[in-house]
Amino acid sequence: MSIHIGAEPGQIAPTVLLPGDPLRARFIAETFLEDAVCFNEVRGMLGYTGRFEGKPVSVMGTGMGMPSHSIYVHELIAEYGAKTLIRVGTCGALQPDLQIGDVIVAQAASTDSQINRRHFGGLDYAPAASFDLLRRAHDAALARSDRVRVGGILSSDTFYDEDRDWWRVWAAAGILAVEMETSALYTLAARHRVDALALLSVSDNLTNAQEATAEQREKGFPMMAEIALSIAPAD
Ligand code: HPA
Repeated sequence: MSIHIGAEPGQIAPTVLLPGDPLRARFIAETFLEDAVCFNEVRGMLGYTGRFEGKPVSVMGTGMGMPSHSIYVHELIAEYGAKTLIRVGTCGALQPDLQIGDVIVAQAASTDSQINRRHFGGLDYAPAASFDLLRRAHDAALARSDRVRVGGILSSDTFYDEDRDWWRVWAAAGILAVEMETSALYTLAARHRVDALALLSVSDNLTNAQEATAEQREKGFPMMAEIALSIAPAD
């Protein structure tokens, strides 16, 4: 057991998929994994280990935002030996040509959070994806959809901002979308020398106020899980 994860040593696979929502972790385990066993219920942050096409894979919720995400990612790496961490989540698009359901492969994650500056003595680290995972995810995504983009995203500390135009400065710099976790994931992975990637499905677009319907959410999410599972290493 670690402080926030109730698994025994060896119960978590080297590859872990990380949705924010623990119920999505259960959905992925029930839909895609063979012989899935639940290894965590602490704080309702469900985690499962099973097999996908013979490969051992775990999937665990992380909650929303970088503090919650970092706690789980840190313990998965430092206490359970996770080597490949793939976030599967949603994002708000910051470019008008992005449509609901588009897949974004996050190449780099800018942030408005102070967490990294605190760690790096006030300086700006540039959190980036594992190139190998990124390349393979891009190929796997293109095999399933022609609506795939690779580029920079923003990991923000806030979902609700009093300034309605806050995102424009990021959009002007080409940032594709906003979410709330990936910058912390990429930084922790780099510091621990493991591989990380975030695959994001566009659930809303801040430039035109479009939002996913319940049906679009249901369709988009399984495809990301499939892409992530298809690039999981064999062991
Ligand atoms: N902001 C932050 N995170 C998000 C958003 C958003 O608009 N949409 C999906 N995740």
